[in-house]
Amino acid sequence: MADRAEISPGDWWRTSIIDIEPGKINVRGYPIQDLIGRVDFVSMIWLYLTGELLTPGRRKLLEGTLAGSMDHGPHAPSIAAARMAVSCGLPLNSAVATGAGMLGDIHGGAGQQCMAFLYRLGEMVDERADDADPVISAVRDYMKTESPFIPGFGHRFHPVDPRVPRLYELMDEAKAEGAIDGRYADLARRVEDALAEIKGKRLPMNIDGVSAAVFCEFGLAPELGRGLFVLARSVGVLAHAYEQGGQGHRIKGPMPRHIPYTYEGPAERRLPDAETGTGPGSTKSGSTKSGSTKSGTDV
Ligand SMILES: CC(C)(COP(=O)(O)OP(=O)(O)OC[C@H]1O[C@@H](n2cnc3c(N)ncnc32)[C@H](O)[C@@H]1OP(=O)(O)O)[C@@H](O)C(=O)NCCC(=O)NCCS
Repeated sequence: MADRAEISPGDWWRTSIIDIEPGKINVRGYPIQDLIGRVDFVSMIWLYLTGELLTPGRRKLLEGTLAGSMDHGPHAPSIAAARMAVSCGLPLNSAVATGAGMLGDIHGGAGQQCMAFLYRLGEMVDERADDADPVISAVRDYMKTESPFIPGFGHRFHPVDPRVPRLYELMDEAKAEGAIDGRYADLARRVEDALAEIKGKRLPMNIDGVSAAVFCEFGLAPELGRGLFVLARSVGVLAHAYEQGGQGHRIKGPMPRHIPYTYEGPAERRLPDAETGTGPGSTKSGSTKSGSTKSGTDV
């Protein structure tokens, strides 16, 4: 990288995304006035991220994937966090950031890991083409060497996530139209079967898993998979945060206050120099026992 002193002022920010001059706004080379009204929002997202125009066959699939990722109810940690943030007095922008910030490797952000896994699985399957069932053996090895949890599979709530079969229908349509190849859609399905074989029970593909299959079909980088999920979920987060603001609940905790939590630390004890009449570390009679349940507090 050039030394800071050698960078010309014009090169301080470099971008291939947008070119702006007085009276001119070109996105990826296209004048904004040509894009407005001709290229819809989802296609603009694609243009921004890839620099290419989205083909009609892929547009429906990307749109469906984003639409399916927007919300999973007030219990979803990303949504709950945003609603709690609003009730604590944060403005909408901070509440959306709070919700988006909850999307990690296990909740909502597993798509990025699943994409990396599916790309790696594709390589592993190619390397062991002579195996009787290369997907099962590759998944088994991955679970031994990389992670016992395969990202994108398993759900606490849905025996079958209704978004998954629908997005598979769209992937089938896109494949029939030649818009995608279908390899990663097929691999992800076979992972579900492999997990059933390995774990002895079905671990359904979740929204992160099916989104990962779609984004791998598009050849996107795993980081962008998470980015697209965050983008879509932010719509749901915004709607919930706005709704919460209208409900007037102040300092909403993660549970109603009458639902207790469990205290599992030491029983009440006194500082060595406190006047207890007993020795250091001793407890007063009648003190709270370890493992007791407590009513929740708001602050
Ligand atoms: C989503 C998730 C947290 C749900 O967990 P859960 O239903 O509570 O499942 P548990 O953690 O109780 O595990 C139950 C069993 O299924 C197994 N299991 C669950 N998800 C698994 C996965 N993705 N890969 C391999 N095994 C899995 C566990 O190892 C455990 O097996 P055991 O009975 O032999 O110990 C979990 O499936 C997971 O971490 N999945 C991967 C991350 C992911 O896709 N997150 C997005 C969720 S929408």
